[in-house]
Amino acid sequence: HQLLREELPGAQVMIVSNREPYIHNLVEGKATLQIPASGLVAALEPVMRACGGVWIAHGSGSADRETVDARDRIAVPPAHPDYTLRRVWLSDEEQDGYYYGFSNEGLWPLCHIAFVRPSFREADWGEYFAVNAKFAEIVVEEATCDDPVVLVQDYHFALLPRMIRNRLPKATIITFWHIPWPNSETFGICPWRNEIIEGLLGSTILGFHTQFHCNNFIDAADRFLESRIDRESGSITLGGRETLIRPYPISIEWPPSPLATQPPIDECRRRVRERLGLSSDARIGVGIERFDYTKGILDRMRAVDSLLSLHPGWRERFAFIQAAAPTRSKLSTYSSLQNEAARLADEINKRHGVRDWKPIHLVVRHHEQDEVYELFRAADICVVSSLHDGMNLVAKEFVAARDDELGVLILSSFAGASRELSEALIVNPYDTTSMATAIDRALHISESEQRERMRLMRELVRQHNVYGWAAQMLIHAARLRKRERIMTGD
Ligand code: F6P
Repeated sequence: HQLLREELPGAQVMIVSNREPYIHNLVEGKATLQIPASGLVAALEPVMRACGGVWIAHGSGSADRETVDARDRIAVPPAHPDYTLRRVWLSDEEQDGYYYGFSNEGLWPLCHIAFVRPSFREADWGEYFAVNAKFAEIVVEEATCDDPVVLVQDYHFALLPRMIRNRLPKATIITFWHIPWPNSETFGICPWRNEIIEGLLGSTILGFHTQFHCNNFIDAADRFLESRIDRESGSITLGGRETLIRPYPISIEWPPSPLATQPPIDECRRRVRERLGLSSDARIGVGIERFDYTKGILDRMRAVDSLLSLHPGWRERFAFIQAAAPTRSKLSTYSSLQNEAARLADEINKRHGVRDWKPIHLVVRHHEQDEVYELFRAADICVVSSLHDGMNLVAKEFVAARDDELGVLILSSFAGASRELSEALIVNPYDTTSMATAIDRALHISESEQRERMRLMRELVRQHNVYGWAAQMLIHAARLRKRERIMTGD
């Protein structure tokens, strides 16, 4: 907040994202609050609480819009409001084409390269375009000046920066792409590749998690557009306007707010083991995420299977809890993943289960933040085995939850987080045997080594927290804004 006052005096801040930070669903006739399982929300909500302003997002809850909490414009967080949530309502056709279709059957598999063929349909593209235009309209409607600072989030809104730029030429537009950006050969299969790149280049700053993804984007612009590229400064100029392309590794708030209400570690360990019918000395591994095929959930179950075959001594002594929140279930790739995971968990439990002990506990439902943190604190190891991931905040949350400085993180080398959390055991999720070996190793690491590794990772997340992430982008944006004002004599 202070930084905003100093660097961008008087600026109005707006965030635009598809996912809203507070969902109001109708449960037994009452509007009930839910905080979605979303890395984007986990990262940006604390920033917005600190800055204030307007967050524009798709209104996705089932509660009746007339009920107080589910209205178009509400002050949030509900208990202690700091900013305004402006909801944008979408029809079923808009959602099918823009969200399920182009965003999640087109761009999501395209950018993650997870061997799911992207689908590009003309009709989906039409809805994607129309919904981006609808959000641009709302940004203009919500703007109280001609030069707001607009933070555009993610692959749902590739066209929005250019649309806002056309309407509010003086706006400072900071766009952050939360998922990977593939190499230009891969990106080139998208029939609307030029429109997407041009749309994003309406931004003042375009951020990715890693330099590698920035380079991929610059290569794509170089290959498909007539633009001027300065690789040294990481900038692209199109139609006389310059966009800075920069890596900003996203993070989480520090200290994480869910930690404030957590009981001591021993209590978490006891509660979780009791709930699952495990003995008090059982060793536990956890995996927690949305039920998405990019997360490598099947791969990590196979690794547990392989662990128990290679090291049968872990039977009845080690259990793996996979908490998975159903997501995008309307799409067949997602619903079949859920079925396949349930089938695989059964098969593994039959193969290695002994009496009433089973190795895999698959819990398919939304988990509230305090439950997530309790699981993190109860676990001996946490497995993040993404096949491809922009950053992966679960890895950082696990580290943040462990104020006892114990626990081992097993982390995919294909998650952006592996560039920062190098004291984790880094694995290739496609290599089942080496993942099994990593789990076995993690379960043998001494407490003193766990502490050494965990301390370094906690220090990194503490120093590079989400406020620093947002501050870096705002500082760069403020500099560009001042420079532009000097140049134009404004
Ligand atoms: O990883 C990209 C992302 O937008 C995240 O930021 C977020 O956690 C996730 O996808 C949410 O997906 P959805 O909003 O479709 O549930």
